[in-house]
Amino acid sequence: MTITSPTSRENAHRAANTGHLILGLETSCDETAAAVVRTDPSGRAAILSNTIASQHELHAEYRGVVPEIASRAHAERLLPIVRQAVKEAGVTLADLDAVAVGNRPGLIGSLLVGVAGAKGLALALGKPCIPVDHIHAHLYAGCMTASPMPLFPSLGLVVSGGHTSIYLMHSPARMTRIAATIDDAIGEAYDKVAAIIGPPLGFPGGPQVDALAQKGDPSRITFPISRVAPGSLDFSFSGLKTAVLYKWNGVPGPKAPKHERPTAEDLCASFQHAAVAAITMKLGRAIEQHAGIRSLLVGGGVSANSRLRAELTRLANDNTLDLRLPPMDLCMDNAAMIAGLAAVLINADPTAGSDSGFSAVPTTSQ
Ligand code: KG4
Ligand code: ZN
Repeated sequence: MTITSPTSRENAHRAANTGHLILGLETSCDETAAAVVRTDPSGRAAILSNTIASQHELHAEYRGVVPEIASRAHAERLLPIVRQAVKEAGVTLADLDAVAVGNRPGLIGSLLVGVAGAKGLALALGKPCIPVDHIHAHLYAGCMTASPMPLFPSLGLVVSGGHTSIYLMHSPARMTRIAATIDDAIGEAYDKVAAIIGPPLGFPGGPQVDALAQKGDPSRITFPISRVAPGSLDFSFSGLKTAVLYKWNGVPGPKAPKHERPTAEDLCASFQHAAVAAITMKLGRAIEQHAGIRSLLVGGGVSANSRLRAELTRLANDNTLDLRLPPMDLCMDNAAMIAGLAAVLINADPTAGSDSGFSAVPTTSQ
């Protein structure tokens, strides 16, 4: 079990804020996470602790997350992680104003562990329990510790292992989906490319493909950039994934041309070029179609990608938009973003958390 702890950057905020003190829990996939966050009335957050027990080593040999293994590991790890998060924050459970939990979307067995744990804690403490949409929380991660808050309306881009979507964000608490992938998510495509190349690349493959891509030639192979339909904002990555498979293993069939395998570096660089171009092309279209946008919010594991970060910075500069990328420690799944967004939801609606009848749901509400 790998446990990571908060950085001094986050601890530096400790004394400054008053407001909600929230414990967040995150168990939607393969990270068991707990965090304590203190927010001011505007929703800006100080992250007092951000503790994550990664399960990557449990799933690596299967090259993907095994739901049954994930749920069992969450059940074993949740309470130790909560204890550690509270201790590192320098608070007690009795100090908390609320408990927040990512209740959707995700693996149902994994979500249920977090939801049951959060409800039990909230009941024992006599505090509200606030359900939080994990996708919405990813979008909030880039602005929760930054000052000042971005101006709205905003466009939100989620790029994760399970989602690739664009949202029109009316406010930090309210958003409407305007685009999604019609097949694979971009993070899934990264993980598949790593699986196609094989060892020594493992799971999750995104960071390793990104590292190889930085050493390769992105113009070596021309991969397809999916447009889906004229004017469409939707994404598609399954064709790109198949093109990578054929470039690496050769086209199947007796009449296939003689195959010459590229280097892994060039394959990754060319794949990354096409994958990132698909994102920035659609986001560019969305910006054109939505006049009056003030900022760009980005979240999800793939927001850690080097080329995507550089290209989004260029796109935002070209359009004079305030770009909010999460710091690296808030790109991947974490509970600080869950607690931070819960505070925004309470500020928008003080009755949030009063109905403890919510459940775990595999799909996003957004
Ligand atoms: O948001 P996240 O932690 O989990 C989900 O909600 O899905 O995203 C995980 C995904 C994985 O597919 C992982 O390979 C990808 O994010 N990822 C990256 C990078 N870092 C993580 N993909 C490309 N480049 C990266 N640097
Ligand atoms: Zn996520």
